[in-house]
Amino acid sequence: MSIQIENLSYKYGQPAGEKVEALQDISCAIAAGDFVGIMGHTGCGKTTLIQLLAGLRAPTSGRIYINGEDINAKGYDRNRLRQTVGVMFQNPEYQLFATTVEKDVAFGLKYSGLRGQEVTARVRWALETMGFDFEKVRNQSPLALSGGEKRRVAIAGVIATRPQILIFDEPIAGLDPYSRENFLQFVTQMNQAGTTIIMVSHNMEALAEYTQHLLVLEKGRLIDAGPTREVFIRLKQRKDGAFGQTAAQKIVTLLAERELKLPPAVVTYGDLLAALKHELTGGGRG
Ligand SMILES: Nc1ncnc2c1ncn2[C@@H]1O[C@H](COP(=O)(O)OP(=O)(O)OP(=O)(O)O)[C@@H](O)[C@H]1O
Ligand SMILES: [Mg+2]
Repeated sequence: MSIQIENLSYKYGQPAGEKVEALQDISCAIAAGDFVGIMGHTGCGKTTLIQLLAGLRAPTSGRIYINGEDINAKGYDRNRLRQTVGVMFQNPEYQLFATTVEKDVAFGLKYSGLRGQEVTARVRWALETMGFDFEKVRNQSPLALSGGEKRRVAIAGVIATRPQILIFDEPIAGLDPYSRENFLQFVTQMNQAGTTIIMVSHNMEALAEYTQHLLVLEKGRLIDAGPTREVFIRLKQRKDGAFGQTAAQKIVTLLAERELKLPPAVVTYGDLLAALKHELTGGGRG
């Protein structure tokens, strides 16, 4: 399921009549099976872009093609879009509304054509995938769960339809390190099984470690895109330091001030350990 974005713009109307240009002339492509990160400062348009990809807003101008089809064309099947693109929005734990966990997770399957036992089997799979004991949790009220559990139920609801494209808006913000790692491992597994992943995050470490490509938004514009490592190397070179650096990049800078020069391609902890090992065992000289 590839995505093609062409000259995409979106303006929000304001009560006073002026417009907020949330997205301006964005063009890029996301290949099927990719794991793409989206980063950028608060208000740069990340959530707006996701809402457009999910078909929840129509572009002011420009087009979005999913598998070659314009999702805003007349006659495009919205149900198929719902089946194809699964989205978890920011703070999904506030969006649980059904009386039981099972009903909540099953809600998204309404349009799937699945019935009865098939729905139950799919809900069981989604909840078990998210680490729940299905029989224990199915009749509980979502309101009786902890914040982290609610979020896992929300994710179960998104994956239950087995969408080919999974989009997460800030999925790891507010998670403890263990849950964060679990979530990222889970997403990696989904990706390895063929699902295209798009993840919005402010967490540079997670983006550096897990994504293959990175899109960088600044005030509604796409200012960089490419393989994750290359984008981080370019962002570090920015004079204004607007996007910061990964922890490993910061350590490289500190070491350079102390005359230990490591390659600029060091972006993740793994890179850093490998480069230090190379340097300290004498591999860096001669
Ligand atoms: N419903 C709305 N009506 C009017 N303006 C909006 C609306 N939603 C967002 N905006 C504006 O559009 C711009 C982009 O907002 P968006 O929510 O896409 O940013 P974001 O990158 O997701 O930010 P964050 O990192 O805080 O989640 C901002 O200037 C915001 O104020
Ligand atoms: Mg947002």
